[in-house]
Amino acid sequence: MASEPVNVNEFQELARQALPKMYYDFYTGGAEDQHTLKENVAAFRRIMLRPRVLVDVSRIDMSTTILGYNISAPIMIAPTAMHQLAHPEGEVATARAAAACNTIMILSNMSTCTVEEVASSCNAVRFFQLYVLKRRDISAQIVHRVEKNGYKAIVLTVDTPRLGRREADIKNRMVAPQLRNFEGLLSTEVDTDKGSNLEALIKGIYDTSLSWEDIGWLKSITNLPILIKGVLTHENARKAVEVGVAGIVVSNHGARQLDYTPATISVLEEVVHAVGGRVPVLFDGGVRRGTDVFKALALGAQAVLVGRPVVYGLAANGERGVRRVIEMLKDEFELTMALSGCPSVKDITRSHVTTTEFDK
Ligand code: FNR
Repeated sequence: MASEPVNVNEFQELARQALPKMYYDFYTGGAEDQHTLKENVAAFRRIMLRPRVLVDVSRIDMSTTILGYNISAPIMIAPTAMHQLAHPEGEVATARAAAACNTIMILSNMSTCTVEEVASSCNAVRFFQLYVLKRRDISAQIVHRVEKNGYKAIVLTVDTPRLGRREADIKNRMVAPQLRNFEGLLSTEVDTDKGSNLEALIKGIYDTSLSWEDIGWLKSITNLPILIKGVLTHENARKAVEVGVAGIVVSNHGARQLDYTPATISVLEEVVHAVGGRVPVLFDGGVRRGTDVFKALALGAQAVLVGRPVVYGLAANGERGVRRVIEMLKDEFELTMALSGCPSVKDITRSHVTTTEFDK
């Protein structure tokens, strides 16, 4: 085997070696020209740090709280679909790694392990990501199972009324496996003659009519806090606060939905200003370094979510691989805090970064 990875980017190559091309492409890819995919990462490189020296950094405390739950660092696991395509233990392995790192995993609605299997495999704090289906009764049933199994929040993804056009999946005729949260509830069999079955699957089951009024419906069926994932503008951030969400995730779905949306890090501050501290703002898209975590916090995020690197870690080495990915990001973030003169996360402020490059 090649030498041990020294940063999370190196897990991508290990994942490529471990996976059939069809699955690797599914995990890696973005929509259409993949312009936003590149930008999500590139925009971080245009932010520079403004460290302060001669601060006592003999003790660094990375811990923070999310909706009242304490986590060891502001680095959480983003909801990503179908982990059993990366590793036979699937989401159970990912959840165990999250627990070992004392962080929160957001389980995808499109998981290959069930809500129950993941809940019984680890007793850490877990959130659940929801897609609202045309069959509202089935979504309500899943929300009920999520509550019963001790998940602490619903993360409603709102950027996917239809599936973004991911051309590698079309070429590869990517086929989704059984989505076991829906087993016995819904037929997910679709015709694969036209390339990937993902688009048809989503078209068949997701509720494309979902609108702001439906947040009221979701609130009426659950007492769990509801976060909304997929906000990129101050208009939508204000609206989300108005309808009473408990938190916002600034996200462009890892650039897999609408190409030519801006890099998420370049719109984070716009959302943070609109929210004005009324609810927590989380962030995802392109986080690959501890410095990226630091930059997102400086621009007002309470924590970041990590998508692809977690899946690459899972593909490379199961639960241990995911642990390594999270630990590496934590180690880098801790060093960044020390070298920037920030002993705790509340010491990280707007004046620790400059964004002149993308303000131009
Ligand atoms: C995702 N994402 C996603 N989001 C969601 O709300 N539900 C889902 O089922 C999925 N599935 C999914 C699969 C794969 C393979 C990827 C890469 C992404 C989006 C995810 O939650 C997150 O927004 C991005 O992955 C963050 O960007 P990075 O960290 O991958 O750059």
